[in-house]
Amino acid sequence: MVLAVPDEPARGRKPVLRDELAAVVVKQQDPPERLRIICYTKWAMSLVNKRIVVGLGGGIAAFKTVELARILMQRGAEVRVAMTESAQHFIGPTTFSALTGHPTAIDLWDKSYAGEMHIDLAQWADAIVVAPATADLLARAVAGMANDVLLATLLCANSPVLFAPAMHERMWLAPSTQRNLQRLLADGANIEGPVRGLLANGQEGMGRMQEPALIADAVEELFAETRSLSGKTILVSAGPTIEDIDPVRFISNRSSGRMGYAIAQRACRRGARVILVSGPVSISPPGGVEAVQVRSAVQMHQAVKSRAGEVDAIVMTAAVADYRPVAQASDKIKKQTGGMTIELERNPDILAELGKTRVGTTPILVGFAMETRDVVSHAEAKLKSKRVDLIVANEASVAFGGDHTQATLVSHEGNQPLAPMSKRELAERILDWVYSRIK
Ligand code: CTP
Repeated sequence: MVLAVPDEPARGRKPVLRDELAAVVVKQQDPPERLRIICYTKWAMSLVNKRIVVGLGGGIAAFKTVELARILMQRGAEVRVAMTESAQHFIGPTTFSALTGHPTAIDLWDKSYAGEMHIDLAQWADAIVVAPATADLLARAVAGMANDVLLATLLCANSPVLFAPAMHERMWLAPSTQRNLQRLLADGANIEGPVRGLLANGQEGMGRMQEPALIADAVEELFAETRSLSGKTILVSAGPTIEDIDPVRFISNRSSGRMGYAIAQRACRRGARVILVSGPVSISPPGGVEAVQVRSAVQMHQAVKSRAGEVDAIVMTAAVADYRPVAQASDKIKKQTGGMTIELERNPDILAELGKTRVGTTPILVGFAMETRDVVSHAEAKLKSKRVDLIVANEASVAFGGDHTQATLVSHEGNQPLAPMSKRELAERILDWVYSRIK
C-alpha cells in the first residue's frame, strides 16, 4: 500500500486525527513507511485547532524557542510570535515569521498595523507561552507593565499563560525573582522549569530553560483539566535526613529527593499550594513551591508538625533516619586503639505520629515504604501501624537515585501494582489518588 504522507503537516492544513492514522497503520505493510506514520501520529495528537502565542524575552535560550514553535505546530497548533526588544538581540523576528506564516509582533507602535496589536493577539490566543521568561520579564509581568508588545499582550490575556523561566542561577535564586514567581502563580500563571544544567557562561547551575518538547507538553496540559488541586495545600517531605556524629561525620542514606520533588512540582502544576520540606539533596526545588530546608529528622519533625494543621494532604517521601547518635561530639572524634561503638537513640516517627494524632480524615496521609524484600507485605503492615491512607511501596534497588521506578499503591481498598514508569508519572498517579480522596 502506498501512502501520500507529507513529511510534516503543511501550514494551515488540519492534521489527520489519531484514529484515522491508527486505521492506516494497521493496514500498512512497508516498515519504513509505517515508521513515518507512527511518527506522524505524534503531531496528530494534542494541539489541533489551538491558537498559541509564543512570547520571547531576551535570553540566550531564545534560540531554542524556534524548536518550541515548530513542535507546537507539529502537534497541530497555529502559532504567532511576539518578542521583546531584548529578545531580538538573540534571534531575529524573520525566523519566526517564516516558520509560522504570520508576521512576528515586535513593535507596539507598528504604523502598518491597523488596530491594537496586543489586544488582537490576546483575544486570538487560546494560550500564551513565554519562553524564555527572563527575570526582568517576570518582574514586569508581576507589575502589570505594558511597555512592549509582549507585556501588553500578557496584560490583556484572558487565556492560560505559561512561563518557562531561563536565567543565571543567581538571578533565579534572588528573593525578588522567587517572590515574583509566587505572585504570578497566585495570579493563576503556570511555570515550567527551569532545570539544572549548563548555563550560558558555561557554569553548571539552576536556571536553564526547560527542553522545548517538555514545554510543549506543559502547554498541552494547560488544555487538560490538571488544576484539580487548586485551593488545596499539600505538604511533601523529601530527601534523606542527616544525623551528625561529629563536625565532619554523619549517618544518612542514599535518597536523592527526586520522587518528592517530582510530586511537589506536579502538585504545584495542578494548582496546589505546595510546602516542600526537604533534607539535603543536590537538586533544586521546583519553581513556585515553598521550600523548607532541614538537615536532621528532629528538624524535619518540627517543620512538618508545625505546618500539619494548615494542609489538606501530607506526602512523606523522605527517607527519615530512624536513629541518631545519642551525643554529637563538638570536636572531630579521634581514632583510638581497638573498635568503636556509637550509641544511637530513636528519632520520632513523623508519619506514625501524624496518623496517631489526626482527628477525622484530614490531612490525607501518604507514606512511602522502601524495602529490599517482601515489599508489599511490609507496606501493608506500615499502612496499618502508621494509620495512614496510602503507602507507596517501592523496591529499594529500583527506586533509589534514578528517574524511573516501579511501585505498588497499597491502601485500605486494596493493592494496585503499577507498571515501571518515570517518577514524574508516578507523581501524577499518586496525586490522582490524593485528588480522588480530597474532594
Ligand atoms: N517515616 C517517618 N519518620 C521516620 C521514619 C519513617 O515519617 N522516623 C516515614 C517515611 O517518610 C515513609 C514511611 O514513614 O513515608 C515509611 O518509612 P520507612 O523508612 O520505609 O519505614 P520505617 O517506619 O522507618 O520502618 P523500617 O525502617 O523498619 O522499614
